[in-house]
Amino acid sequence: MIIAIDGPSGAGKSTLGRMLARKLNLLYIDTGAMYRAAALAVIESGVSTTDEDAVADVVARARINLAGDPDSLQVLLDGRNVSNKIRTEEVSQTSSVISTIPAVRRALVARQREMGKRGSVVLEGRDIGTVVFPEADVKFFLTARPEDRAQRRYEEDRLRESNLTFDETLDDINTRDARDSTRADSPLRKADDAIVIDSTELSIEEVFAKMLSAIRERQGRDA
Ligand code: DC
Repeated sequence: MIIAIDGPSGAGKSTLGRMLARKLNLLYIDTGAMYRAAALAVIESGVSTTDEDAVADVVARARINLAGDPDSLQVLLDGRNVSNKIRTEEVSQTSSVISTIPAVRRALVARQREMGKRGSVVLEGRDIGTVVFPEADVKFFLTARPEDRAQRRYEEDRLRESNLTFDETLDDINTRDARDSTRADSPLRKADDAIVIDSTELSIEEVFAKMLSAIRERQGRDA
């Protein structure tokens, strides 16, 4: 079984992806973390993000892996655990910038497809239901009002001792949403057959229940 979760930043994709993986015993693949690890490799290499060939070259050479269970997922770059390092504001913006480069996407999509073939999986990102696994069994598109997404992100960041204010967090979300949705290659877009869940007025548990019942309904149909 392949479950795809797409949507803008801060919509709850990671939390819900992890919850589904735990409940249904699925492999959890956070594709945003892969773009973030690629961005960290680019920052550390010192190449300019405007030099697309050089960026693509760095990303092609980077060994990006996800390890561990959903609740303690480790993101590895060339064998180093970079799980915390990829959560900075600089990496967030750089990941959004380099993910517009087609060669970067090709490299990471190939890797995601390879990982997805390991068994039953839940993948979350921006283009899972449209490009990476258009044949996914169940597709979700999670969204919420930008202010609510920024509030969640702001609270998460504070636990990591980030200094960003709420307004800066909202700005970051709006800038990335605009870039992620308007790029030419695989923009953030709802797949035609995706189930849309707007979590603005819902708790995480309510969204989780909706997702679970959609998956069970689908499993029932296939049985
Ligand atoms: O989900 P996230 O915020 O960790 O993702 C970081 C950036 O990576 C996001 O701004 C856009 C990019 N991304 C993408 O282009 N395609 C994906 N499938 C996942 C993330």
